[in-house]
Amino acid sequence: MASGNEQEITDSLSWRLIGPASELSKKQCRLMFSSLGFGSDVCLFYVKGEFFAMDARCAHSGGPLCDGDIEDAGGILQVFCPWHDYDFNLRTGQSGTGLQQRVYEVKLEDGSVYVKHTSPLSLRPFASVQKS
Ligand code: FES
Repeated sequence: MASGNEQEITDSLSWRLIGPASELSKKQCRLMFSSLGFGSDVCLFYVKGEFFAMDARCAHSGGPLCDGDIEDAGGILQVFCPWHDYDFNLRTGQSGTGLQQRVYEVKLEDGSVYVKHTSPLSLRPFASVQKS
C-alpha cells in the first residue's frame, strides 16, 4: 500500500514533515511558515515534553503567539498573546475570552515531528511568499 507521504498536495489535509524532534525540542516555540502565506503560518510549541501546533497569528488581532508567555494553569497549558494578553489553550486553542485559535494534530514518528495541515509547512520562508 502506498503511504502517500511523498505527495504534497496543497489544500489537502496531510501530515507535513517538520524535522527531527531532537532539534525541535530545543526551543519552546518555532514558527513554521505555510506555503499559503503569512496568515496561515503555524507555531510549533514544545512544552513539558510535548509538541503542540497552533495558528501563529492570534485570532484576536493577529499578534505573534510564538512570542507569547506560556503558563501551566493547573495542568492546562496556555499561551498568552504578547499584544493583549488573551489566553489560548495549547491543546484545544480555546480562549477564556471565547475566541478560538485553530490547532493542528502533531505526531512523532521515527524521531521526526509531523503536523497535519492543509499546506506544506517549513521552518524557512517559502520563496514565493517570502516577506523582505
Ligand atoms: S492580538 Fe492577540 S490578544 Fe490581541
